[in-house]
Amino acid sequence: MAKVDFTFAGHDLVTDDRLLEPRAWTQKQSAWAADLLSQVPEGPVLELCAGAGHIGLAALRQSERRLVAVDREPVAADTIRANAERLGMASRVEVRCGDLSQVVAPDECFALVIADPPWVPTSGVGRFPEDPRGAIDGGADGLTVARQCVAVIAEHLLPWGAALLQLGTREQVGSLDLPAGLVVVEVREYPRGVLARLVPAGADQVSCAAGSSR
Ligand SMILES: C[S@@+](CC[C@H](N)C(=O)[O-])C[C@H]1O[C@@H](n2cnc3c(N)ncnc32)[C@H](O)[C@@H]1O
Repeated sequence: MAKVDFTFAGHDLVTDDRLLEPRAWTQKQSAWAADLLSQVPEGPVLELCAGAGHIGLAALRQSERRLVAVDREPVAADTIRANAERLGMASRVEVRCGDLSQVVAPDECFALVIADPPWVPTSGVGRFPEDPRGAIDGGADGLTVARQCVAVIAEHLLPWGAALLQLGTREQVGSLDLPAGLVVVEVREYPRGVLARLVPAGADQVSCAAGSSR
């Protein structure tokens, strides 16, 4: 195990060689999320499958919002805390180490959700021997954790909020079978993955009520 310094979106950060190596292209997710912060309601941001935390931290660097960053790996949680310290954001970053389906309280609401789940089908993980299996194995069709993410998004997104989900392909986005009330409104494709913007189908289609964020 070793700490590895890297630069992401102009920020000097650290990761750990037990985590997925941060990909430069995912700065696109940070930048899009930062843009959305000016459009979504007041309230905190939730980052699911945060790894080293770089995507969410970079997205919120210029904002004063609170970030709840989730990953099930203790080494990820420690690394997110270290990076939040580096960026002077520790006072508004809460790190939760656990399964993403279990670490958000029923009454919590978020203005924006950033999600970067594993998406490689189990049969294909052998093609990526350099990557930690737990970071890339998305189950039989690659979408097991992504479906857990959209279930959390549907339960915890504020009216007029938004979510940015990273997956491997546009076809995977189309295969998600979204929970009722959540729709994909835009997909942006990049050479190494896609980003999908999801929103509530209507203000009355969400579980979270405006003003109930905490
Ligand atoms: C594709 S990696 C992305 C990490 C980081 N966002 C990045 O860009 O490098 C997926 C991350 O999700 C975490 N993860 C996988 N399944 C999870 C689950 N059920 N609950 C919470 N975290 C999970 C893994 O530990 C891993 O750090």
